[in-house]
Amino acid sequence: MKSTDRIPVLIVDDRTENLTSLEALLGDMELELVKAQSGNEALRHILYNDFALVLLDVQMPEMDGFETATLMRENPKTRHLPIIFVTAGMKEEYHQFRGYEAGAVDYLMKPIEPAILRSKVRVFCDLYSQRQELKRMKEELEVQNEKLRQTYQQLQEETAERLRAVEELRQKDQIMIQQGRIAAMGEMLNNIAHQWRQPLNVLGLKIQEIGFFYDYGECSKEFLEANVGKAMEVLRHLSQTIDDFRDFSSPDKEKTVFSIEQVVGKTLSLVMESFNQAGIGIDVSISDDPQVNGYPNEYRQVLLNILMNAKDAVIEQERSDGRVTIRSWSEPGKTVLTISDNAGGIKEEHLDKIFDAYYTTKELGKGTGIGLFMAKNIIEKNMAGRLTVRNVEGGAEFRIET
Ligand SMILES: Nc1ncnc2c1ncn2[C@@H]1O[C@H](COP(=O)(O)OP(=O)(O)OP(=O)(O)O)[C@@H](O)[C@H]1O
Ligand SMILES: [Mg+2]
Repeated sequence: MKSTDRIPVLIVDDRTENLTSLEALLGDMELELVKAQSGNEALRHILYNDFALVLLDVQMPEMDGFETATLMRENPKTRHLPIIFVTAGMKEEYHQFRGYEAGAVDYLMKPIEPAILRSKVRVFCDLYSQRQELKRMKEELEVQNEKLRQTYQQLQEETAERLRAVEELRQKDQIMIQQGRIAAMGEMLNNIAHQWRQPLNVLGLKIQEIGFFYDYGECSKEFLEANVGKAMEVLRHLSQTIDDFRDFSSPDKEKTVFSIEQVVGKTLSLVMESFNQAGIGIDVSISDDPQVNGYPNEYRQVLLNILMNAKDAVIEQERSDGRVTIRSWSEPGKTVLTISDNAGGIKEEHLDKIFDAYYTTKELGKGTGIGLFMAKNIIEKNMAGRLTVRNVEGGAEFRIET
């Protein structure tokens, strides 16, 4: 309660001059004195307003003080309202007893001693102030509680929202990896087609030869055996190619120590034919047989993505002297492998974006922009290495440190 708030006190007396003299006695006590001239009027007041205290005259016509007090006590809202009876007559103990029975907290005789009246009123007003203060504190506490509850709920909602976002991201990553796999598989099929074209031609030739030689009566047992032997060799080669590709596309479960030279060799055997077709030469220079602790099949996928990009770049430049150089060596605590080409390099404005997911400069259907994103993920997240790019003389150079 603010200090400027006056404390409400109800004074009840049927006689105006008594009310006036009470007012004069209490006038400077910062009270809001509400006057009533009958029991009925007093009851109406306490029905609608809150009071710290009622000063109640006993002798009034119609409804006397005792009856008024009894009715006040019967109303749950005013059951605990302090009542002080003020009376000129009825000094007998019997009357006082009735007064207390009706719920009075005190009994004052006229003529009233001002100091006593004031100190009694003060006590009840202080009590009232304390009660109001408590009520205010309780309300404030409830407001704070409500705020706390809301903050907590907000926090819960935010946490749920964050978890949802994380889950969404995880699913997006999953989709991206899946798309990367599909793109890689497309690339693979393309490579298999190149790898198989030549052996399939040989196989066709060998089968046709048998027919010709038979027609000319030259199909000897030796010739047949030699031809079947050659056909079987080609078939074994085709089968081996398929095994190689299958190995390649199944991700490794566990880390192993592998040789860069071997992994490069296996990768090149898969792409050799398609590079030959495009007239692109490949130089390899590997010193000290560098070894890596990681996932060989994933590492091959990275090499393949970078090699495919180099091939695309050479073809786009319409170069007839396309050349890709692979170098690898060991450094203290790591191995380094670089793949460089002579296809003109990467434009400055693309340089810091080419590892982003879906970033491609190729026309629709020719690139998804996932190749280098996957490659960076594999090297940096799965194998704790680094994959970077820079432009060198005549082309781009990708550098893998593991
Ligand atoms: N050797 C390179 N020379 C020039 N530009 C390159 C080279 N390698 C990559 N880039 C650029 O980087 C971009 C992103 O390559 P990335 O492999 O991520 O996607 P993409 O090849 O376009 O599509 P895909 O998902 O099919 O691989 C390419 O579109 C190309 O612009
Ligand atoms: Mg690519």
